[in-house]
Amino acid sequence: MEEVVGLAKRRGFIYPGSEIYGGYRGFWDYGPLGVELKNNIKRRWWRDMVELREDVVGIDAAIIMNPKVWEVSGHLSAFTDPLVECQACHRRFRADHEEELAEHAKTHDGGVQWTKPKNFNLMTEVLLGATEPKEKAYLRGEITQGAFVNFQNIVDSTRVKIPFGIAQIGKAFRNEITPGNFIFRSREFEQMELEFFIREDKEESRRVFGYWKEERMKWYTGLGINEKNLRFRDHEESERAHYAKAATDIEYNSPFGWREFEGIHDRSDWDLSRHGLIYRDPDGRDEYTPWVIETSGGVDRATLFFLLEAYRKEDKRVVLKLHPALSPYKVAVFPLLANKPDLVTKARKVFDRIRPLFHATLDERGNIGKRYFAQDEIGTPFCVTIDFDTLKDGSVTVRDRDTTEQERVSVDNLAEYLQNKLA
Ligand code: GAP
Repeated sequence: MEEVVGLAKRRGFIYPGSEIYGGYRGFWDYGPLGVELKNNIKRRWWRDMVELREDVVGIDAAIIMNPKVWEVSGHLSAFTDPLVECQACHRRFRADHEEELAEHAKTHDGGVQWTKPKNFNLMTEVLLGATEPKEKAYLRGEITQGAFVNFQNIVDSTRVKIPFGIAQIGKAFRNEITPGNFIFRSREFEQMELEFFIREDKEESRRVFGYWKEERMKWYTGLGINEKNLRFRDHEESERAHYAKAATDIEYNSPFGWREFEGIHDRSDWDLSRHGLIYRDPDGRDEYTPWVIETSGGVDRATLFFLLEAYRKEDKRVVLKLHPALSPYKVAVFPLLANKPDLVTKARKVFDRIRPLFHATLDERGNIGKRYFAQDEIGTPFCVTIDFDTLKDGSVTVRDRDTTEQERVSVDNLAEYLQNKLA
């Protein structure tokens, strides 16, 4: 974990938020490579969950909503975590995080006295308006409510019919008691969620819940997470969120234990009925409150877990074996020698030719070995080297990140060659 955190900072993936002022607990900034990785995760999710499906539409709702939304959805009263305080040093912890409590107990000779657990609300308050007292509103604690409050708009303005889903990616905010483990638990984070609306039927609900569990698991394994590092864990009734009738987490085998990656929830009619919304079958036969199966993944957790999964130390190199769809750059182009103008000019020509097709980078620093090392470390799947033979016969060397094998390819066929390899 420390090595991945170090690499993330050193190579421009993730920095501590507001670092020049000492940072700010639970906030992180994504650097030039981090934003590419994160965007690639989101792009892939959107492609698979919206663009390639006929039964899902997307939205992008506001982060701040009418505060009534949160009252009605139950978040102001029930979106809580159990909090305990150490009576010696007054530090506060999640009562259900036993490992953290045990760790803290070790810092006090003779053990720790904890206060009784109390419910701590996670919603983040903001004050708005130009007149005093300002109006209290909230940064959304889950992106989900935007899909519910727009349910009627979407039914009226599109051709969706139940069963159908509303997908969304966006920021959420939680006043977490103990942010930690790098970007795993932060106070500002991004979610990618699907709210899938079905008819009110127990059998259908079980079937759709099972279907989405499998789909979401396949999505992670398809992007390179070893299935041995993933598992389902059903929630006990006592740990389920206030809106969930059933919940299963997809967990990842992280260096700090099995941890929640994504939640699949049966929200039944909780949200729509609280908001007083119903569905009228367009054929006019039926009128009812749909039930909802939700898949809710964290973009930042995905970023962290994809990085941890991809990180390898092999012989003398560190390599990020990211799925090519997620790699920040798909291709790096080098002149063999940085001090030979003919090679540098040709390298730039090749770079200019392929960059509209793939996110590419041109690297002229150091020697070729160092450049390979630098690209392996950030997960670039292919490196293209322009050498003296290129000037004679128009061929280049293409090196594969994972096998380190090299192939000679004609510049004219390079785009097609890479396209096939990256498909
Ligand atoms: N709408 C349902 C919902 O928000 P959740 O299980 O509370 O469900 C879903 O959150 C996902 O959001 C989690 O599985 C995790 O990936 C991500 N997430 C939740 N809290 C987070 C935090 N404090 N920091 C980073 N990611 C978080």
